[in-house]
Amino acid sequence: MAILFKNIKELLQVRSSPLSYVSGLEMGKLPTIKNAFLVIDQELIVNYGTMDECPKGTFAEVIDASGKMILPSWCDSHTHIVYAGNREKEFVDRIKGLSYQDIAKKGGGILNSAKTLQATSENDLYNQSKVRLEEVIKLGTGAVEIKSGYGLTVEAELKMLRVIKRLNENYPIDIKATFLGAHAIPSKYKENRKAYINLLINELMPKIEKEQLANYVDVFCETGYFSTEETQLILKAGKKYGLIPKIHVNQFTAIGGVQVGVAHNALSVDHLEELRNEDIDCLKNTNTMPVALPSCSYFLSIPYTPARRIIDAGLPLALASDYNPGSTPSGNMNFVVSSACIKMKMTPEEAINAATINGAYAMGLEKQVGSISIGKQANIILTKPINSYQVIPYSFGNPLIEKIYLKGKDIH
Ligand code: NIG
Ligand code: FE
Repeated sequence: MAILFKNIKELLQVRSSPLSYVSGLEMGKLPTIKNAFLVIDQELIVNYGTMDECPKGTFAEVIDASGKMILPSWCDSHTHIVYAGNREKEFVDRIKGLSYQDIAKKGGGILNSAKTLQATSENDLYNQSKVRLEEVIKLGTGAVEIKSGYGLTVEAELKMLRVIKRLNENYPIDIKATFLGAHAIPSKYKENRKAYINLLINELMPKIEKEQLANYVDVFCETGYFSTEETQLILKAGKKYGLIPKIHVNQFTAIGGVQVGVAHNALSVDHLEELRNEDIDCLKNTNTMPVALPSCSYFLSIPYTPARRIIDAGLPLALASDYNPGSTPSGNMNFVVSSACIKMKMTPEEAINAATINGAYAMGLEKQVGSISIGKQANIILTKPINSYQVIPYSFGNPLIEKIYLKGKDIH
C-alpha cells in the first residue's frame, strides 16, 4: 500500500524526464519543488507534485513532512566496504611523519589488509562487513559499489566477491561488485609481476564470470602499483569476461591512467587528485565519469580533486566515499558532500548532483536511483526540519536525517 508524504518543505533533485547525468553548468542546477507531496508505492516512486495537487485517496500511511525536506538517497559509487580488521597503527605512523607510500613500502598498506583478510573466514568477513554496510545505510546511502582487492589470492579474492554477493542478497540496498585483484602486487610475485597478472586474467576472471561475481573490473593504476601497460592488459581481458572498467587513477601521480580508462571506455575514472590539463581534455566528449573522493584527501592530507577545473571544463563529476581501511575509514556521504563544498569549492547544488544522479551513473544505476522520478526506486532521505538545503553540506558532521526509506521500506 502507498505512503503519502505531504507538506514537504522542499523536494530535492526532481527529474521528470530521464537523464543519465549532469555536467558542466547543468551541475549547478538542482531542480526542486517547494511545498510538495510525494507518493511511494511498494518499491517505487509513483507520484509527486505541489501540495495544491495533492491526491485525496486512502493511503497506508500519511506522513506530515512540514519543515522537512526529501531527497534521493546518496549513491556511493566507490567503496571497499568488505575488509577485515583495521589499520589504525598505520594511522598513527602517518601522524608521526610516515607517508602512505612509506608505509606501503614497508609491507603495510594494502598488503597488510590482504594478510588479515586471507586469515579471516568468509563468515567472519561477512559479519565484519555487514556492520559497515548497515552503518552507511543509516547515513543515507541507498546504492553502493563495493570492490574486492584485499584478497590478492584466488581464494581470498573469491571470498571477498562472495561476501559482496551475499550482502547484495540480504540487504535492500543495491550493490554493484567490482573485481580489483590488481590492487597491489603480492610480495610473493614481486619479482614476477607477470605471473600475478596472468593469475588475475587466466584463473580468476573465468571463475568470476562463471559465478557471476562482478560487474566491473578495477586496477590501481599508479606508480609503485600497476603501470599503464599492465592496466591496459587487465582491462582488455576484463572485457572478454563481461567486466566494464572503473579504475583508480591519478591519486598520487599522473601517469596516463585517465587516457587508458577513456581508451577502454571506462564507466568511471576515480581519485584524480593529480590532474593535468591533458587529462581533463581527454575526458571531454566521452561517456567516462570522473569521480572525486574528498574523504580520502582529508584522511591522507593529499590534494583534493580539482572539481572547479573539471566542472568549468564542461565535464560531469561524481562524488563517492572510498570507504576502506587504509585511506578512508568512513562511508559518510554527508561528510563527502560537505567536504566537496568546503574544500573543493563545489556549490551545494553541484555536490548534491554529484552524490546522487552522477554517482548512480558511475555504477550503472542511473535508471533505478539517483533522482526523484516516477518509476525509480523509493530510496529517499527525509531530513529533520531544516531551513534550506544548503544546510545539508553546511552542517558537516551532524546527521540531519530523520528517516530513511529503501525500496519503499522504512529502515530503522
Ligand atoms: O582508493 N588507492 C587505492 N586503494 C584505496 C586505498 C587502499 C588501502 O590503503 O587500503 C583507495 O584509496
Ligand atoms: Fe579506492
